[in-house]
Amino acid sequence: EAARINIAIDGPAGAGKSTVARMVARDLAYIYVDTGAMYRAVTLKAIEAGLSMDDDVSVGKLARELDIVLLPGKEAQLVLVNGQDVSPLLRTLDINRNVSYIARLVSVRKQMADLQRRMAMAKGVVMDGRDIGTHVLPDAELKVFLTATPRERATRRYRELGDNPGITLDQLEREIAERDRLDQEREIAPLLRAQDARLIDSTGRSIDEVAEEIVQWGLAIARTISMEEK
Ligand code: CDP
Ligand code: CDP
Repeated sequence: EAARINIAIDGPAGAGKSTVARMVARDLAYIYVDTGAMYRAVTLKAIEAGLSMDDDVSVGKLARELDIVLLPGKEAQLVLVNGQDVSPLLRTLDINRNVSYIARLVSVRKQMADLQRRMAMAKGVVMDGRDIGTHVLPDAELKVFLTATPRERATRRYRELGDNPGITLDQLEREIAERDRLDQEREIAPLLRAQDARLIDSTGRSIDEVAEEIVQWGLAIARTISMEEK
């Protein structure tokens, strides 16, 4: 029996993290954890409560009162907040524009990281985000930093918006660049490639190809660990 490992996938918006992470988890029969969805859920609730996005005390208190549960869904992951399925509400332009401010708050980050570490305790988790390899799971057996050019990332996201995007491609590219900047420049657990993370540039590469590469790395690492344990 192969050992179970944890896999951390970090990178900027639109790099393909969630799509690839979900496929890797499926192929290895692991659990996929979308940490971005957790920050989005806190952002949704903070907006609903009319809180200011830089009010660490109030948003921290709100976050403590939220019971966030992630469930594997048919396509995307389901996010329950205090029993309510908020998944369809998390990927709006409004939340895109606010989430990186919420993600700067010390108390919110600490609570999310604690929750994420508990989810990964039993191993066999594929977790994607910004600070997984550097901060949440520094001991993950496999770390991947996934990137693509800003134009490619914006184009991918633009395609998802369908016939009524409500924004131009150039505007979307600027908004993604601004979110990346906030994520990279924040003081706590910024978006950063861990020294021991394997770099994948997915520009021009298919999702299947990238997922397969990560699965093979994961299997090789799990086999090595199993052999060492014998
Ligand atoms: O899917 P996309 O890459 O656009 O975003 P996401 O993964 O849902 O993350 C949304 C935002 O949450 C990011 O821009 C970060 O500000 C924040 N985030 C974070 O700070 N740390 C994480 N581990 C995951 C997300
Ligand atoms: O999670 P993250 O923000 O890193 O990206 P994503 O939501 O997984 O991927 C953004 C979009 O790019 C999705 O619609 C994917 O299907 C697409 N994609 C792609 O076209 N080629 C890849 N190699 C990876 C993702």
